[in-house]
Amino acid sequence: MDYLSKIDLTRTPEHIAIIMDGNGRWAKKQGHMRLYGHNFGVESVRETLKAAKELKVKYLTLYAFSTENWNRPKEEVDGLMDLLVKSLANEVKELSDSGVRLLAIGDIAGLPDACQNELQESIDLTKDNSEITMVLALNYSSRWEIVNAVKRIASEAKNETLDVNAIDATLFSSYLTTNQIPDPELLIRTSGEYRISNFLLWQVAYAEFHFTEVLWPDFKREDLFKAVLDYQSRERRFGMVSEQLT
Ligand code: IPE
Ligand code: IPE
Ligand code: MG
Repeated sequence: MDYLSKIDLTRTPEHIAIIMDGNGRWAKKQGHMRLYGHNFGVESVRETLKAAKELKVKYLTLYAFSTENWNRPKEEVDGLMDLLVKSLANEVKELSDSGVRLLAIGDIAGLPDACQNELQESIDLTKDNSEITMVLALNYSSRWEIVNAVKRIASEAKNETLDVNAIDATLFSSYLTTNQIPDPELLIRTSGEYRISNFLLWQVAYAEFHFTEVLWPDFKREDLFKAVLDYQSRERRFGMVSEQLT
């Protein structure tokens, strides 16, 4: 099916966020170790990024490692960190040449040094690109991010550099790691799981959710287009009634 031709390119989301799930099950289905699935997941990232660019999406946020993922077997965690370093090293030239700006959200200081260094180098190298921003959520947890914001706001209020009456949703958003990034209009989760798993809790307040049974390593260009078509079929009312929308 040719999904792209059905998409209204004037109404594509500015920001798509994806919970890339199902790598382990994908690998297991073919009798391989879980890491085999993570490796193939990198190809899906490449394809999805390209497809997002075709749609003129400005931000693509990918949930790559949650704070809860540290609880996985050490071998898998080490493999994932290794894969992150290698993939960044392999891809950064192409990212940089193709107009991609890289950002990271999450507790980056809690990542192994090698990851932090590779990440920082890639972020620096691509900082002037503007075609699309790819945001990697690494060692990310929404509750961590929200608690962190509250701590900073409380301490500024306490030492009177911040007026309590100035605290509103906009100000609160500016204390989150996503402060330079608009809220996603579309959140995709692969692998048939129907949960948020501590991802962008504040930011998805009015996002449309698209769930697919497709496992992340099988997620390709057409799957992104299908999700965007689904998004375009929704009526986004923001609390109003249909008749009020133009
Ligand atoms: C998503 O795939 C990747 C990460 C969480 C790093 P999973 O590894 O969660 O794969 P499943 O859900 O076990 O199949
Ligand atoms: C969410 O997937 C985290 C990432 C995709 C990085 P998980 O596979 O860790 O989520 P749960 O544990 O099934 O909720
Ligand atoms: Mg999973």
